[in-house]
Amino acid sequence: MDSLLLSIENKVAFITINRPDKLNALSKEVFYELNETIDSLEKNEDISCVVITGSGEKAFVSGGDIGVIKNLDPAGSYNYSKKAQKIIQKITQSGKVYIAAVNGYALGGGFELALGCDFIYAAENAKFGFPEVKLGIIPGFGGTQRLSRIIGKNAAKELIFTGKIINAGKAKELGIVLEIKSSKDELLKFAKDTAQTIAQNAPIAVALAKRAVEQGINMPEDEAFELESTLFGISVSTNDAKEGVKAFFEKRRPNFINR
Ligand code: COA
Repeated sequence: MDSLLLSIENKVAFITINRPDKLNALSKEVFYELNETIDSLEKNEDISCVVITGSGEKAFVSGGDIGVIKNLDPAGSYNYSKKAQKIIQKITQSGKVYIAAVNGYALGGGFELALGCDFIYAAENAKFGFPEVKLGIIPGFGGTQRLSRIIGKNAAKELIFTGKIINAGKAKELGIVLEIKSSKDELLKFAKDTAQTIAQNAPIAVALAKRAVEQGINMPEDEAFELESTLFGISVSTNDAKEGVKAFFEKRRPNFINR
């Protein structure tokens, strides 16, 4: 791969978008490699968590590649948007936990990629925004929907309509960012520690809990509770649930086997 770096350490995969000279803008190559990487990690039972970050100090991802947008006709733009939405949807539908470690700019498609992750940690220099309207377009990789669901409709509209860029502190205030760290190194260490903590838990339980939240949030409440009960039932039927409960009474650490 040319545009992505991938490393794996103790059940945690690190994806680094690697186009620092273009502030890690999402070119067709980046999308292709991201899609392939997400698919291959999904099949890898040894991976529980994935941390996504950007190469260099300046940017997580500065957006969709504006050079690509320049050449799109209406039908091509529709397909481009659908394809990008699908890749980010793979993250929300994944059984793995994805953490966005945002260093520098997360604009447009970069913001949308981060919003697709399960949570966002940021370095102090992180900046978020949807500058699309300044280009005469709208966010098309799920951003209008995900941001509204996370910070509420009106706050999302303000950000999207103005195209303004907010800093990490404001993003935390709005509930976009969960933690701010003083440097990129601190940020990656914190993301890695959280990922390792999650990786020690029962993988099926974590995946089912993610599904309960992701699917349930868009359902009527009674259906969402029904879904939770069904997924709870599935979690109880796993070997890891038997092991977790047994280990509790034997006062030892559980040995989860992802079954
Ligand atoms: N698509 C394509 N190229 C991009 C890009 C993007 N989204 N974001 C940055 N780049 C390129 C720049 O064109 C420049 O390339 P060059 O060196 O060949 O001229 C390089 O990355 C560095 O960016 P530059 O603009 O010089 O950095 P800066 O520090 O002055 O400004 C930003 C940083 C993020 C404010 C500015 O790059 C920007 O506004 N980017 C576009 C953000 C955007 O609109 N995103 C949504 C796209 S839909």
